[in-house]
Amino acid sequence: MFLPLPDDFHAHLRQGELMPGYVRDLVAQFGRAIIMPNTVPAMTSAKAIADYKKQILEAAAPVRPDFEPLMTFKLNPNYTEQDLKDMMAVGVVAGKYYPAGVTTNSQDGISDFEAVFPVVAMMEKLGLVLCVHGEEPGEFCLDREPAFIKRVETLAEKFPKLRIVFEHLSSAKSVEAVKRLPANVAATFTVHHLMMTLDDIVGDALRPHHFCKPLPKRPEDRKAIREAAFSGNPKFFLGTDSAPHQQGKKECPCGAAGVYSAPVAIPLLVQEFDRADALDKLPNFIAGFGADFYHLPRTTKQIEVVKESWTVPAVVNGVVPLAAGQTLEWKLK
Ligand code: NCD
Ligand code: DOR
Ligand code: ZN
Ligand code: ZN
Repeated sequence: MFLPLPDDFHAHLRQGELMPGYVRDLVAQFGRAIIMPNTVPAMTSAKAIADYKKQILEAAAPVRPDFEPLMTFKLNPNYTEQDLKDMMAVGVVAGKYYPAGVTTNSQDGISDFEAVFPVVAMMEKLGLVLCVHGEEPGEFCLDREPAFIKRVETLAEKFPKLRIVFEHLSSAKSVEAVKRLPANVAATFTVHHLMMTLDDIVGDALRPHHFCKPLPKRPEDRKAIREAAFSGNPKFFLGTDSAPHQQGKKECPCGAAGVYSAPVAIPLLVQEFDRADALDKLPNFIAGFGADFYHLPRTTKQIEVVKESWTVPAVVNGVVPLAAGQTLEWKLK
């Protein structure tokens, strides 16, 4: 079966010596990806972003020389319009809103919502997309995402021309909110939030490699996510949030949040869409609606997926991937 070459509208590649391996895993399945800025140090300047993009392209070259990293910056209240223009000139397409302290490397995130409005207004004017990790700090863990919906509504109302992506939805309430909000608000779904509930993290045993933010929630939340993904609504598209952490950083007393799905994302999606009898909806979900929302041309390239079983390795680049050790029925050719 041929599919359009997928776009990943949400991926983490980290920095340093581990990065090239993570890049190769990603570009084996994707032709373009939004590269998240929660690196250490964070991506906050044109110079750092240009340098990071160059490193990513170098790492991608042996596997996919035409890979296109779509760069992002971490939002804070201090950017000038010239800063944003300088970042756009080096390939930045979006800024990422991290509320302070809600996920990996977000200690320097936003604690004063209104303080970023002037920068958000500049983003609206310049046509930059705002990606939002929508969880309200301080709320009970399962309520953090629903509690953030009001902020997305405020942003959509105050900045009607701003394109906003409510990232990695995990609750039925946020799916409903995105459906209800105007066309400038879209959302990404991850592979793991399509597949898991909280039971898959703490239901029978503690499964640290499934631990991620936002937490996968109740069966009815997963049902809402699946129905929206399989419905063909253009507001919903793939952003894997593939987030590698070395095995030891997950299997320890204070484990990091993140699911490493890059090595298995497309085979698992084919499996899930196939089982839901929705394979006809898969091309737009992985390579259509997101490109349209980001004002990018749709890809003309393809990948082939074959029905051939294979076993997911226990460890990939030092990371335990999603579905580690499982036998999958679809394989990338
Ligand atoms: C690295 C990671 O998580 O991959 N940290 C990071 O980028 N925040 C560190 C590591 O786990 O090796
Ligand atoms: O689980 C997560 N991991 N969620 C995020 O939002 C960030 C990510 C990471 O960077 O590890
Ligand atoms: Zn996030
Ligand atoms: Zn993320």
